[in-house]
Amino acid sequence: MRAIISGVGFSVPERVVTNFDLEKLVDTSDEWIRTRSGIVERRFADENTASSDIATKAAKQAIEMAGISPEDIDMIVVGTVTPDMFFPSTACIVQANIGAKNAAAFDFSAGCTGFIYGLTIAQQFIENGKMKHILVIGVETLSKIMDMTDRNTCVLFGDGGGASVVSAYDGKDDRGIISSYIKADGTLGELLMMPAGGSRIPASKESLEKRLHYIKMEGNEVFKNAVRCMNESAVKAIEMAGINRDDVSLLIAHQANLRIIRGVQKRVGLPDEKVYINLDRYGNTSAGTIPICLAEAYQKGKIKEGDYILLVAFGAGFTWGSVVLKW
Ligand code: UT7
Repeated sequence: MRAIISGVGFSVPERVVTNFDLEKLVDTSDEWIRTRSGIVERRFADENTASSDIATKAAKQAIEMAGISPEDIDMIVVGTVTPDMFFPSTACIVQANIGAKNAAAFDFSAGCTGFIYGLTIAQQFIENGKMKHILVIGVETLSKIMDMTDRNTCVLFGDGGGASVVSAYDGKDDRGIISSYIKADGTLGELLMMPAGGSRIPASKESLEKRLHYIKMEGNEVFKNAVRCMNESAVKAIEMAGINRDDVSLLIAHQANLRIIRGVQKRVGLPDEKVYINLDRYGNTSAGTIPICLAEAYQKGKIKEGDYILLVAFGAGFTWGSVVLKW
C-alpha cells in the first residue's frame, strides 16, 4: 500500500491585518517587515474562533475532494501549538464537528513541522495496512498567543490551517509519499517557546504579569538554525526519494521568512516558478503553512498528477523535516 494525498483543503480567517495596521501598535514599519521577512499582511481570527473551527472548515473541503464520507476516516491527527484547550484534543473536537465517528484522534506538538510529522505518522499506518483514510491537519490561531507589544514576534505570525486526507493506494504507478525525513533537537528549544501555561509554570497572577503566556523567540538564532536544517532536509528527502533535483515540480517550504525559502530554493537549484509562496498574504501560520500552501496551490491548478512535490519545514522544538511525494 502507498500513502497518497486524496484530498486537500484550507481555511484562513476573514480579518486581514496589514503591516500598516501593525505600525500603529509597535515601533515597526511596512518597509522593515517586508524586507526582513517578506510578509505584507496576515489573517487574525476573531474572539469566537478557535483552531478547531478553522480545522473543521479545512477538513470538510479535504473530505469532499477525497470523495469519502466522514465515517470512512480511520484517524485524525492534528499538529498544533494553539489547540482549543489542553484537553480534549483539537482532533477530538474536529472529529465531533465532522461526524468521523469511526476515527481515532489525537493532537501532537511539533511546532511548524507539524504537518510533515503528521504526514509521516499517516504514512506508517497506511503503508502497514492498518488504516485506509487518515485526516492530517496543521492549524494555528497564533494571534491568541502573540504579545502585541513585542515587535520581535507580533509582526511575523498569522492564523490559518489546512487539511489533507491521506489514503491507501494500490495503483501500479509510484504516486504517493515517497520519502519522509523527520528530526528534532530539544537542546535548542528555549530559542522558540511559550514558557507558561503548562506544568512547569502554571497560569498565575505572576505568570500573567510577566507576559509568559506569549510566544518568545530569538529570531536571529532561529533563522540561522532554520536555514541550516531546512537546507539539510530538502536535500535529504530528495536523496531518499531517489529522484533528481530537476524532477521536483514544486517546492513548498515552511512560510516563515522569504529569505529562508529563497535559501532552500537555491540549495535545491529550482527556478522561481517551482516555488510556492503565500507568506506575503498569510504570514507564518506555523503548522498551518504547508497544508495551506498545498491546498491553495492545488486549487490554483499549480499541481497536476505525476508532479513531484517537496515539502520542507522547521519549527519549535526544534523540529524539522521534509517529504517528497508524487501527486
Ligand atoms: O516558524 C518557526 C521558524 N521561525 C523562523 O524561522 C523565523 C526566523 N527568524 C526570522 O525570520 C528573522 O530572524 C526575523 C525576521 C525575525 C528578524 O530578521 P533578522 O534579520 O534576523 O533581524 P534581527 O533579529 O537581527 O534584528 C535586526 C534589528 C534589531 O535591531 P538592532 O538590535 O540591530 O538595533 C531588532 O531590534 O531589527 C530590529 N527589529 C525590528 N525593527 C523594526 C526586530 N523586529 C523589528 C520590527 N520592526 N518588527
